[in-house]
Amino acid sequence: MKYVIGVIQPDRLDDVLKRLTDEGVHLVTVSNVVGRGRQKGVAQVYRSHKEQGSLLKKVKLEIAVNEAFVEKTVRAISEGARTGEIGDGKIFVLDLGECIRIRTGERGNEAIG
Ligand SMILES: Nc1ncnc2c1ncn2[C@@H]1O[C@H](COP(=O)(O)OP(=O)(O)OP(=O)(O)O)[C@@H](O)[C@H]1O
Ligand SMILES: [Mg+2]
Repeated sequence: MKYVIGVIQPDRLDDVLKRLTDEGVHLVTVSNVVGRGRQKGVAQVYRSHKEQGSLLKKVKLEIAVNEAFVEKTVRAISEGARTGEIGDGKIFVLDLGECIRIRTGERGNEAIG
């Protein structure tokens, strides 16, 4: 199991969610966050309305998946979020130790999707 974290531009969220659905990935946690990348939070002019001090508004997606869905998830996020401009975002893939569905007590692959 992996835990995929994507940090993307807010205006790419709808497209990323559609691509995830098309790949069969339906379960997701979405948060509004602020952050900065290697430009240290300096926005491009046309994106400057998103500035908040030196931190820029981003959307974070968190998705726990079985191994078979890792590449599909990464592809949906990267293809949906890419414009080719700085600040398009980043994807982190972490090993996931456990997943527990609280209602049933199921664990691991049974609980994840
Ligand atoms: N190393 C990192 N650790 C934690 N969060 C990060 C890291 N890199 C990027 N982020 C998060 O992702 C957001 C988008 O990053 P961004 O796309 O600007 O990355 P970048 O490395 O600066 O690449 P680019 O040059 O394409 O802009 C940041 O605002 C931050 O929230
Ligand atoms: Mg950047």
